[in-house]
Amino acid sequence: MKMNRNDHCWCGSGLKYKKCHMNFDEKYEKLREEGYEMPSRDIIKTPAQIEGIKKSAEITKGALDLVAEKIHEGMSTEEINTIVHNYTIEKGGIPAPLNYQGFPKSICTSINEEVCHGIPDKDIILRSGDIINVDVSTILDGYFSDSSRMFMIGDVSEEAKKLVEVTKECLYKGIEAVKPWGFLDDIGAAIQEHAEANGYSVVRDFGGHGIGLEFHEEPFVYHFGNKGEGMILVPGMVFTIEPMINAGGYSLFVDADNDWTAITDDGSLSAQWEHQILVTEDGVEIISK
Ligand code: MF3
Ligand code: CO
Repeated sequence: MKMNRNDHCWCGSGLKYKKCHMNFDEKYEKLREEGYEMPSRDIIKTPAQIEGIKKSAEITKGALDLVAEKIHEGMSTEEINTIVHNYTIEKGGIPAPLNYQGFPKSICTSINEEVCHGIPDKDIILRSGDIINVDVSTILDGYFSDSSRMFMIGDVSEEAKKLVEVTKECLYKGIEAVKPWGFLDDIGAAIQEHAEANGYSVVRDFGGHGIGLEFHEEPFVYHFGNKGEGMILVPGMVFTIEPMINAGGYSLFVDADNDWTAITDDGSLSAQWEHQILVTEDGVEIISK
C-alpha cells in the first residue's frame, strides 16, 4: 500500500492522504522500525467501522440501562437474561454471547464469588446483600460491542460496597492510562496499583480484548503489568477494559458443572466493571458510556 499525498486516504474518509492518515503512517512505520510492538493494521478501525461499532454500543448501553431500572431482589438471573435478549432483538441486534463457543445464554450474570461467565438460570434468585455483574455484548450489522456493570441488591455489606466502588475506580484509572502512541501495559499497571493499594488482587486469567469486527480481537488487554511495556496504542484501536478484582487472592477455578463460570478459589468476593473504548488522536473515548 503505497499512497501518494493527494490520493484519497486508505481509511475511506474521503480526505486527501496528506490531510488524513499520512502522519499516522509515518509515525507507525518509524516506531515499527525502532522495534516497538505495533498493532496489526487490520485492527485499526476506519471511520465507517467506528460508526458501526458505536451503533452497536448504543444497544449494549441501552440494555444495561434497562437492567439498572428493572433489577430487584427476588428476581432470577434468567429474567435479566430475557429482558436483555428481548431488548436487543427489538433494536435489531443479536446477543453476542448466545451460542458463542457453546455459551447457552444471551448475557453473563456473575454473583458474589463468581468472577465472570456466570450463566443465567431460573433457579438463581437475587438475594439482599448480593453483588452481581451483568455483562452485555451485542452484534449489530456485524459490529460488536461489550460492556458490563455491577449492581448491588438490597442491603449490601460495607465490605462488598467498597469492592464494587474500588473496582469501578480501577476501570477508570485504566481508561485514564490510555494515550495515543502510549503503551498498552500502562493500563494494567494503573489498575493493579489501585487494586493492590486497597488490599485486593487482580484476576490474571482473563483480560480485556480488541473488539469490533469480531467479539475477541487482538490485543489481549492485561489488567496488571508494568508501565512502559507492551504494544503501542494507536488512534483507531477499539478494545475493552474489564478488570476483575478479588477481595482475596486472584486464583480461580472454572465450575466443572458448566465449564464456564469462573469462581474465586478462596471463596472471596469478586467484582468487575467493563467499558469499550476508542483510542483517539488526542486521548480516549468511552463508546459504551
Ligand atoms: N463479555 C464477555 C467477554 O468478552 C463474554 C465472554 S464470552 C461468553 O469479556 F460467551 F461468555 F459470553
Ligand atoms: Co469483554
